[in-house]
Amino acid sequence: MNSQFDVVVIGAGAAGLMCALTAGYAGRRVLVIDHANKAGKKILMSGGGRCNFTNLATTPANFFSDNPHFCISALKRYRPEHFVELVERHGLEHVEKAPGQLFCAGSAKDLLAILLTECDWAGVEISLKTSISALEPCGEGLRLATSRGRIDAGAVVVATGGLSIPTMGATGFGYDVARQFGLAVTETRAALVPFTLTSQWKVRAEALAGLSHEVAVRCRGGTYREPLLFTHRGLSGPAMLQISSYWRPGDRLAIDLLPGVDAFDALLAARRESPRRRISTWLGEHLPRRLAQALVEWHGGDGPLAERSNAELEAWAGRLNDWHLKPAGTEGWRTAEVTLGGVDTRALSSKTFEVKGLPQLRFIGEVLDVTGELGGYNFQWAWASGVACGLAL
Ligand code: FDA
Repeated sequence: MNSQFDVVVIGAGAAGLMCALTAGYAGRRVLVIDHANKAGKKILMSGGGRCNFTNLATTPANFFSDNPHFCISALKRYRPEHFVELVERHGLEHVEKAPGQLFCAGSAKDLLAILLTECDWAGVEISLKTSISALEPCGEGLRLATSRGRIDAGAVVVATGGLSIPTMGATGFGYDVARQFGLAVTETRAALVPFTLTSQWKVRAEALAGLSHEVAVRCRGGTYREPLLFTHRGLSGPAMLQISSYWRPGDRLAIDLLPGVDAFDALLAARRESPRRRISTWLGEHLPRRLAQALVEWHGGDGPLAERSNAELEAWAGRLNDWHLKPAGTEGWRTAEVTLGGVDTRALSSKTFEVKGLPQLRFIGEVLDVTGELGGYNFQWAWASGVACGLAL
């Protein structure tokens, strides 16, 4: 392997490959290093194997960060349409599964193949199964000690992603490098992750496993109206994954099982109009049957609406519109889609992604304290940060 490169990108994921091909096309000699045996593993496993590769409605408001303005410049410069244009040039067919959310019509493999082809055309070298034991300043650039020998780089781009799914190659390498060079790392937490429940609620969720129902969920100022999925371990589905980015251990979730319906008013009206109708019948008309049955089993008090007092109907309305549930925890890094927090962006230029005062070192993608909501935003950040950095190398 040539031991002298203009740019060494650490991490052959979405951000690293995008940065590498951009710098390669700009005439830089680029090497991408990854310790995994395959490039782009998370691309392959994302979106159920079909990769939700962007969201057409991406704005900075879709991202969490202690420094919320940081992502604006890169997102503005490289927009979802630009990425769509790139993949369409290669003939990738895609589908809009939910408003704005673009997925591969076939397989995520097709998308990864495009990135690898572009890297090839741009003259990028990729070295897999290569580990790095040290990164030190050396002259004007940086020197890496790797399992394939010493490599000198004019600039090093750290694109090692977050901590989620360690079996896919995730490590805290990027955070260690940041600390080594005196940068702060904000608190990291697993996000876009299902919740686990304690004994009684776990048993109840287990009995409903597989059932999905649209809810509105709130926690710490976050609110989402999306499907909730009961699982054998607890609660999942887009609503729960989204709200996990707000949740902290010990918090309760407020779940509205009937979003848009004032359950108390609706129950009062139902009692007036059909007093013989049973609570369970009414619930079955508004909720999936298994969930309606479960609610009656959990709370009791079934019977004709006429025999239910206002206070009882109010209690039912509370269970329906404002169900408070305290998860035991989350499934953690094993299944989390992303890491909240990361390298503190205040130490970086939002235009070039270089460390202020140390332009040879740059950080892009998920390793940074920039984390998107569910729906293709995280890949859009990977592409946008990769391109912004690649153009500036
Ligand atoms: P990424 O994690 O992709 O790449 C980092 C690379 O660095 C890896 O190849 C890794 O092997 C390498 N690396 C790590 N440590 C190293 C070390 N010490 N030495 C050398 N190499 C090292 N997002 C989205 O927008 N739409 C979606 O559909 C999904 N779906 C999804 C499903 C699942 C199951 C997960 C886990 C995640 C998603 N995501 C997602 C999130 C998305 O995958 C993620 O945000 C991007 O892949 C981040 O891209 P990066 O390039 O920053 O890191």
